[in-house]
Amino acid sequence: MKILAIVGSPRKNKNNEALITNILKSLQDPTITIEKYLVSDLIVKPCIACDACTRNLGCIFNDDMTMLYKKFNEADVVIISSPLYFNSVSAQLKSIIDRCQAIWSSKYVLNQSIIDIDKKRIGFFISTAGMPESPELFSATIPIMDLFFKSINCEYIGNLFVPNIDAHPIIEDQETLSKAHNIGLELKKRLKG
Ligand SMILES: Cc1cc2nc3c(=O)[nH]c(=O)nc-3n(C[C@H](O)[C@H](O)[C@H](O)COP(=O)(O)O)c2cc1C
Repeated sequence: MKILAIVGSPRKNKNNEALITNILKSLQDPTITIEKYLVSDLIVKPCIACDACTRNLGCIFNDDMTMLYKKFNEADVVIISSPLYFNSVSAQLKSIIDRCQAIWSSKYVLNQSIIDIDKKRIGFFISTAGMPESPELFSATIPIMDLFFKSINCEYIGNLFVPNIDAHPIIEDQETLSKAHNIGLELKKRLKG
């Protein structure tokens, strides 16, 4: 069993990383391999719409996305987090998402998917926001993540949305940390089946 987690905040050791770390802690198991990546450690160029992926498999850029295409394919669970930036995901995460156009092209243009479309994967999304809770605060992120999870053939099973994070950092929020811990336990239960 393989878990792939991507921390979409460019800030290390902050709220998004703490939430992911907490989920991953409760997922630890001898049968589970966990890999965590921070967008701040990755070099992923933004898609330039050159359309090369509609003619040849994969992307013309050879950066950390080459590794991530492989990791998405191998993963059983994909956990992604992002701070809310202008109601959307971080630019660093959006670059990763847009580069999944090469997966889309491999499936729907070249009919030679670079991702195993028969493999069952599950996806979970976490987002944090500086603004206090309001009904639509995170709603723009949902269709983005939905399409992303579809591109990697992942069933989008849920979200953890945490508002008001700048005023109440996660390390002081035991309730949300324990929610994150429980999400890890739930994912583990699903994995073990
Ligand atoms: C460029 C930028 C844009 C932001 N836009 C929003 C926003 O639209 N709504 C909001 O609630 N918070 C916004 N914030 C606050 C961040 O969402 C918040 O600081 C972040 O979730 C903290 O996560 P981190 O500690 O893991 O980096 C923004 C922050 C930055 C730097």
